[in-house]
Amino acid sequence: MEKVFLEGPVTLCGEVAISGSKNSMSAILPAVCLKEESAVCTIENVPIIEDAFCMCEILRELGLIVDFNIPDKKINVTGKVNKHVLSEKYVSRIRASSLFLGALVSAKGEACVPFCGGDKIGERPLDIHLHVLEKFGVSAFVNKGVIECKALEYPLKGTTIFLRYPSVGATENAILLAVKAIGNTSIYNAACEPEITDLAISLNAMGAKIKGAGTNVIHVEGVRELTNLKHELIPDRLECATYLLAFAITHGYGRVTGTIPEHNIALISLLKDIGIKVNYSADKIEIDASQSSYSPMQVDALPYPGIPTDIQPLLSTLAVLCNGNSVIRDCVFVDRFYHVNEYQKMGVNVTKSYNQAFVSGPQKFMGATVTGEDIRTVTSLFLAALAAEGNTILYGYEHIKRAYEKFNIKMSAIGARIKLEEIVLQSGIQKTSLS
Ligand code: EPU
Repeated sequence: MEKVFLEGPVTLCGEVAISGSKNSMSAILPAVCLKEESAVCTIENVPIIEDAFCMCEILRELGLIVDFNIPDKKINVTGKVNKHVLSEKYVSRIRASSLFLGALVSAKGEACVPFCGGDKIGERPLDIHLHVLEKFGVSAFVNKGVIECKALEYPLKGTTIFLRYPSVGATENAILLAVKAIGNTSIYNAACEPEITDLAISLNAMGAKIKGAGTNVIHVEGVRELTNLKHELIPDRLECATYLLAFAITHGYGRVTGTIPEHNIALISLLKDIGIKVNYSADKIEIDASQSSYSPMQVDALPYPGIPTDIQPLLSTLAVLCNGNSVIRDCVFVDRFYHVNEYQKMGVNVTKSYNQAFVSGPQKFMGATVTGEDIRTVTSLFLAALAAEGNTILYGYEHIKRAYEKFNIKMSAIGARIKLEEIVLQSGIQKTSLS
């Protein structure tokens, strides 16, 4: 586990530029598997994060030629998918590898993908993905930890699907299966996250015919071929939310640039409701959290456009500092409360019951040694450490590197006092700085 030392408390102030979206990148790179051999796909504004390197390795394993130009933040993909079997090596690291089920069945009529990995945030079944595959006439079974899929008829035929829950990944798999199927597909109760829209925009640029992405009913008319792509990823709304909450938690003030404020309307509205000043224009959000106290909050993490489950742990950190009783409920990942146990080590008491955390504030975080085992738990502990009295040693920093570009550098630039152990990233080119 990689550790980071944090000195608190600090008041953050300054400007942060937001990088491209991890979860858009994670959906669009599998979609590139559907391209014709001669087509060239270029993805721009790629975040320089470990998950992006991992996705590139998976594409290379499938036979594609991938050039990741780090200074230009650009991934160029040429060549052709020449196999349908993936090894565990990279797939086991990220949840989004489940999208290779849809991508490979769509491209080759079959797929063998080991059970995907990703964050430990409670139960993450694949039943909705399997239901989608079944609707397209694909047999899927698990053999020694590998999901083996085979289309009973190929090319696939368009179909009508109702998702029992608007799963992001299952909606993306349904789109990937539908774009080259013969005839029309309708997906009801689809997820509406901006990353689904970004995937649809990319596929449409390659020649697909997808309508309704961003709403809960998506219609797809199958096409024979998908060709070239040049696409700039949307900004990462979760990275943006993280910095807004970092300013809030440290009673700081600053500006987040290169973002799409509309993607964070639920959070902006919540921050205003508890007494924090937030203003936004086309692509920036300004926050002034210099007030001495905030009102308590009632939060329900929900599918988009609700408060994202990914920032629920960070909001729990903020709730600790609010003046009164807050309730934080996660309706997406009901067990996503690992941060709460670690708070106890920082001298903070939060009661948990099923999918809710009850916080009686304000309480003070005290520096301690804490550990997180998924991206957002580690991030919420990082933010708690910024507000804490004294020094914190935080284990699990490698999870932050999966999702946040230059996190230590961006945080240091706005006033965080951080020291990292020296580590070489998978890219081999970027060493951590001591700040
Ligand atoms: N679910 C099922 N069965 C399924 C699929 C999902 O029961 O077959 C349940 C899950 O257990 C969960 C809920 O449905 O309770 C939502 O899961 P969803 O499928 O929507 O999530 P995902 O596609 O696995 C993506 C993001 C997550 C984000 C969720 C929810 C990517 C790569 N991951 O995951 O991001 O939390 O949507 O918005 O896009 C993160 O960035 O830290 C992260 C975990």
